[in-house]
Amino acid sequence: DAARDTSHDFVTSARLYGHGVTTSYGEMCYHDNSLVSASLEALIQHLVPTVDYYPDRSYVFTFLLSSRLFLPPYELMTRVCHLCVEQQRSGDALLDKIRFREVAPKLVQLLTEWTETFPYDFRDERMMRCLKDMTHHVARGDEYSWRAMQQMTQRLIKRLSALGQYEEAVAALNAAAMERPASLKSKQASAQRNDVLSLCDDPFVLAQQLTHIELDRLSFIGPEEFIQTFAMKDPLENHKGFFRKRKTSNLEAYVSWFNRLSYLVATEICMPMKKKHRARIIEFFIDVAQECFNIGNFNSLMAIITGMNMSPVARLKKTWNKVNTDKFEILEHQMDPSSNFSNYRTALRGANQRSETAHSSQEKIVIPFFSLLIKDIYFLNEGCASRLPNGHINFEKLWELAKQVSEFLVWRQVVCPFDRDRRILQYLVTTPIFTEDGQYSVSNAFSGVNHKNVWYSLSVLGNKQSPYCLSYCCRAASGFI
Ligand SMILES: *[C@@H]1O[C@H](CO)[C@@H](O)[C@H](O)[C@H]1NC(C)=O
Repeated sequence: DAARDTSHDFVTSARLYGHGVTTSYGEMCYHDNSLVSASLEALIQHLVPTVDYYPDRSYVFTFLLSSRLFLPPYELMTRVCHLCVEQQRSGDALLDKIRFREVAPKLVQLLTEWTETFPYDFRDERMMRCLKDMTHHVARGDEYSWRAMQQMTQRLIKRLSALGQYEEAVAALNAAAMERPASLKSKQASAQRNDVLSLCDDPFVLAQQLTHIELDRLSFIGPEEFIQTFAMKDPLENHKGFFRKRKTSNLEAYVSWFNRLSYLVATEICMPMKKKHRARIIEFFIDVAQECFNIGNFNSLMAIITGMNMSPVARLKKTWNKVNTDKFEILEHQMDPSSNFSNYRTALRGANQRSETAHSSQEKIVIPFFSLLIKDIYFLNEGCASRLPNGHINFEKLWELAKQVSEFLVWRQVVCPFDRDRRILQYLVTTPIFTEDGQYSVSNAFSGVNHKNVWYSLSVLGNKQSPYCLSYCCRAASGFI
């Protein structure tokens, strides 16, 4: 089967290219046909295509995802390309050319997988230069592969410019959300401020628009962003230069959207002067939360619950007395953090099953409670050494990381089937909001360069006396800070 085949191929290639059979076996350790550990050198070699070998896709994904824990992407790419070219050298120029022509399509395939799955790696000029060099190299051998390289590069550039536009858009929205902060303080201004009900009184429509925002932001998160966070804090690593450069922070932007939605809910509820009006808004958001649950949008659901539990809302006892809370209690129970969020995890599994057998794109939607996903991946990384005592890389751990991240990739792919309502969307992402201490929320507070901001934003949530976030975030924060 696959694993044994590839190991066999690797050994063959090792013999051909002078590494020696026994060391190769010694450097790759398999258990039940699955790669469990190997030296970094062997893993890099295992990625290099030859005339009669191509690594299997799950290995390519897993190693490209996690290799950054051990060496920066540009170094990996340089070495893989170099090995791929050098392995074809026999000393005979004509033979070399023929052999490179045979391996070129495989190298192109590998680079295509890389650029399509981890495009943000190519925000590094050194990566782009290496890609260009390989394009030249390929051009000497094989017209077809050269054209494929050109097309791949064009797709990549398109993708990176979309990312740049997205980052600019998020920055502009955050700036808009921070405008006119003082005006909100006066009663007059709050009377003038639209509230959410005047814009949209259909909970299903609001839940749909929230789902748009969630899926938009999810779609820009690169799988490597989960892992890059650990790579930076790993004391063994000293490649800060690379990570300082144009670091992507879509993950932080997404967590800060969660915070914004929580504060927005609290602001909307606290703003009206009349109890009756406040109670109506609470009931409306309970219905929105219910619709989010039905859609499979657990992130917005949790943000709404968090907003409802912020102390300025929670202490409105007389308002709450006017609200029928049965539905809300059921939703809270679903998202109860006890037993490691077991109720939520069951619901998530249910949503996943529905997604797998979906008949419509609406049924495909699964938006996880994102902070918990980050926390799970964080503890998976913390709980288990990346290297074994003999210096080999613990590949079982890398399989597990890849499994969790590839689940996210499936969720990220879903195209939101609902109609967009620009006015509602604009309102949700830009309307000024209160934070709990009366300060205005700085929704881009977490868009800075420091990776610790992810954890910081979690701990900020933990201070907000929400039983749901508090208990979970404090546990999370104690691990992070
Ligand atoms: C919580 O559950 C997740 C998913 O099953 C698991 O990966 C994680 O290790 C669990 N955490 C704890 C503290 O039990």
